[in-house]
Amino acid sequence: MYNLYSPWFGCNVPTDYFEFLPIIATIQYSFELDVFQKQAIYHLEMGESVFVAAHTSAGKTVVAEYAIALAGKHMTKAIYTSPIKALSNQKFRDFKDTFGEDVGILTGDVQIRPEASCLIMTTEILRSMLYRGADLIRDVEFVIFDEVHYVNDLERGVVWEEVIIMLPAHVNLILLSATVPNTKEFAGWVGRTKKKDIYVISTPKRPIPLEHFLYATGELQKVVDAEKKWLSTGWKNASDALSKKAREQKNATPASRGGRGGGSRGSGGGGSRGDGGRGRSFQAMQQVDRNLWIHMIGFLSKKQLLPVVVFTFSKRKCDEFASGLPNIDLCSNSEKSKVHVFIEKNLSRLHGDDRQLPQVLRMRQLLKRGIAVHHGGLLPIIKEMVEILFAERLVKVLFATETFAMGVNMPARTVVFSGTRKHDGRNFRDLLPGEYTQMSGRAGRRGQDKTGVVIIACSGDEAPDPTNLSKMILGVPTKLESQFRLTYNMILNLLRVEALKVEEMIKRSFSENTSQKMLPENQKKFAESEESLNALQKLNCTICNADIENFYEASSRIVDLNHKLLEKIVASPVGMKALNAGRIVVLNNSFHRNAAAVLLKPAPLSSKASAATGQDRSFYFLILIDKIKKQQISSLDGIAPLPATRVLVPDITSHGQEIGIHSFTGIAVITKTNVKVDCEAILNKQDDLEIARVTQELLKYAMETTKTGIIENDWAKIKELKFQERLKEKMALLSQMNEYQCTRCPDLNEHYGLVHKQWLLKDQIEVLKRTISDQNLELLPDYYQRIEVLKRLNFIDVNGTVQLKGRVACEINSADELILTELILENILADFEPAEIVALLSCFVFQEKKASEPNLTPKLTKGKEIILGIAERIAKEQYSCGLDVSPDDYIHGLKFGLVEAVYEWARGMSFKHITELTDVLEGSIVRCITRLDETLREVKGASKMIGDSKLYKKMEEAEENIKRDIVFATSLYF
Ligand SMILES: Nc1ncnc2c1ncn2[C@@H]1O[C@H](COP(=O)(O)OP(=O)(O)OP(=O)(O)O)[C@@H](O)[C@H]1O
Ligand SMILES: [Mg+2]
Ligand SMILES: [Zn+2]
Repeated sequence: MYNLYSPWFGCNVPTDYFEFLPIIATIQYSFELDVFQKQAIYHLEMGESVFVAAHTSAGKTVVAEYAIALAGKHMTKAIYTSPIKALSNQKFRDFKDTFGEDVGILTGDVQIRPEASCLIMTTEILRSMLYRGADLIRDVEFVIFDEVHYVNDLERGVVWEEVIIMLPAHVNLILLSATVPNTKEFAGWVGRTKKKDIYVISTPKRPIPLEHFLYATGELQKVVDAEKKWLSTGWKNASDALSKKAREQKNATPASRGGRGGGSRGSGGGGSRGDGGRGRSFQAMQQVDRNLWIHMIGFLSKKQLLPVVVFTFSKRKCDEFASGLPNIDLCSNSEKSKVHVFIEKNLSRLHGDDRQLPQVLRMRQLLKRGIAVHHGGLLPIIKEMVEILFAERLVKVLFATETFAMGVNMPARTVVFSGTRKHDGRNFRDLLPGEYTQMSGRAGRRGQDKTGVVIIACSGDEAPDPTNLSKMILGVPTKLESQFRLTYNMILNLLRVEALKVEEMIKRSFSENTSQKMLPENQKKFAESEESLNALQKLNCTICNADIENFYEASSRIVDLNHKLLEKIVASPVGMKALNAGRIVVLNNSFHRNAAAVLLKPAPLSSKASAATGQDRSFYFLILIDKIKKQQISSLDGIAPLPATRVLVPDITSHGQEIGIHSFTGIAVITKTNVKVDCEAILNKQDDLEIARVTQELLKYAMETTKTGIIENDWAKIKELKFQERLKEKMALLSQMNEYQCTRCPDLNEHYGLVHKQWLLKDQIEVLKRTISDQNLELLPDYYQRIEVLKRLNFIDVNGTVQLKGRVACEINSADELILTELILENILADFEPAEIVALLSCFVFQEKKASEPNLTPKLTKGKEIILGIAERIAKEQYSCGLDVSPDDYIHGLKFGLVEAVYEWARGMSFKHITELTDVLEGSIVRCITRLDETLREVKGASKMIGDSKLYKKMEEAEENIKRDIVFATSLYF
């Protein structure tokens, strides 16, 4: 599909346009470019920015490569950013293959050729370059954001927004994303922020279409075909087969439960199964799983549907499923020897001890049989071996977690979902359509398969609910949505460099997009309203001038209170009882002014919803009117808020009546008076006699009120405090109404109308003023609160000037900037050895919720207490400044689960022994330690800034201690 913004829309681009582009020739693709790729390239050649949204494996990288080649031709630089380190590493290798040695990479723990003209980096690194004002940025022509839908990430999404906002104007942007429904909104935001056009290019079509199946009792049932059509027979067949099997099993093993029913503790991810698994023992479930995979893999192999990626939503389940297939061997002898040579060659980089790690041994066994796992718990070197072997087609069955679906170019013949529910950090929930699409997109290899096969495994007694299932497969993917939030580091950096005000950053964020987009229009409206206000005739009346404004205010307040009281009355049984047939009320709406009326009966409600809320309650009324005056009520009279202080008494000669339906909101007063009335006769039989009789009653009532005034019904039975308070206020205001001088003006109606007009305009101007001013920014309170925290902790002074502490905090990105700064500047680290320091710092970078309790030395325990003490102090300060961060959450953000392991690692223990100290998976340990390298570098920078050479030396020593062996083994992609 062509996008609406493309200049090609409706005009012809010469068909040979691309053959004359010299760059195409230098990259030399073996395939003809797709339309969307050509569109994007056309815009790049024109020096424009693009946003390309296309499905998994569509070929978005071509666009990135083209920009890199263009930068090469122009002697400028191109920066490629990705959210994931593994993806950056792969791109480093791929780009080196394409462009030669002029490619560099900068991540938290590697810096290779930082002067290269094509630079791969994490978005976080680019962010700090921008805050630092690095020279390098001057030469940058393109910044490529791969997987830009990462802006939706709760934790890190804000970084993408920050970077996009801060990039200087000369940089062209190339945004690559999975298919999302609001491409134009996002591109519109980037375009407005950067003041340039961003051309949207999207293709929802897949060159290799997907077919979706349920796998039930050994059979595949197609539920969605290649034309994206839902097939209900397929679903029904699967469902029938499953329930038949369940019945048979039940008959075969009657009442075989009990015993070890509670054993499922620690199995993790229990929700990934259908409800049918409930009540069975853990062992029995494992057996079911094992049989399922043995059968399924046999089946896929027979049907030539390998290689397959099986997506599973827990690392432990990946491992469990893979090791449940000890007798399956999918490699020929020659393949086995290739795998063997590859593994041994790469493992030779490792120490003897590291080569014997249980994970290494396990994976070697699996890989030789064509089976593998891929998840964050793996050692990086193993993960990379799996990726490379998979790309070489030597892995036939891969059990992977969701991260395998991101960016890496690893298509398979088939994708299997082991379940359709996952834990998202808070709850178990169904997969979202976007997630399903991203993962299923790995199926179908271009140039090899006609379709991609996607299979959902049913392991319970029931097929997944068809409505949910079709929504997941065919539904609209998640929108790009702003996760913008303020961080102390951002605020301090912005205050320090002064290039951009914090308010400006908030204003330009994607979350403010809608209101900022409306800004010019609102500014225009504002000016117009002010003009109209000035043009409005000024009231000049000797009687009214004294207090008509106050009178107007009191009137509006009464009307407002009355409305709220009525809402309560129609929603309460006691109140509705007072709205009985024969009740006299005073109506004040756009049809009637101070008219006495008899309530006949409630009108039918328009919908169920309004019945529940009482919202548009209406009633039949018989209303007393003055046939002559009735025609004089101008429309303005109708809408200006006027409480009923008296009742209209029509002339005996011109009086009459009307029967009509009116909303409860038109009732100004429910009086305490009732008259007898035969509704049946009036409404159904239109009995003139009865109508005339009731009209006379009303007239009598109206005349009486000239002496007694209007007496309101007694509401003592509605006990609610708020109701009674409002009632009291209304009564008090009403009793003063006659004291206003303006009520004696003969032209009050006209003058009142004038005040009303003025008031409306002033109101509108006020609202517009608020929308166009900074005061309307949603994050502003949060900003002021954070500034207050920074002042109290002396990170900035009373004028907002960044102090030494603040400058230190600017350098800290990998850890909590406030706590770590306090640790450094309070000289606390002086009492600790390098190994102890790095161990304690791990509480900032280790993030996993579950970890076995570490064994800490007394010194480390003391350190932990000091850190917790600081955190508590800051948490309290934040709380008392009104910040919306729960002190408990803040303190629990520090995770001490790996302190012991890191301590021993820094003291030289082998990795094998480290793994025995904790139940945290190997890959997570490595990730924690590599991130610590970044933290150490930041602390080193800080100690240099404050002139603490002792701390600097300690950090150097700690760096040396942790950078060794398997934890810092270089990537196989380098
Ligand atoms: N026009 C084309 N014709 C045939 N194959 C192509 C074409 N464009 C790209 N490819 C191939 O398709 C594969 C996937 O491309 P790529 O990795 O760029 O996908 P992607 O859009 O970045 O997907 P992801 O969402 O996974 O990041 C690559 O092997 C690439 O060589
Ligand atoms: Mg990609
Ligand atoms: Zn007047």
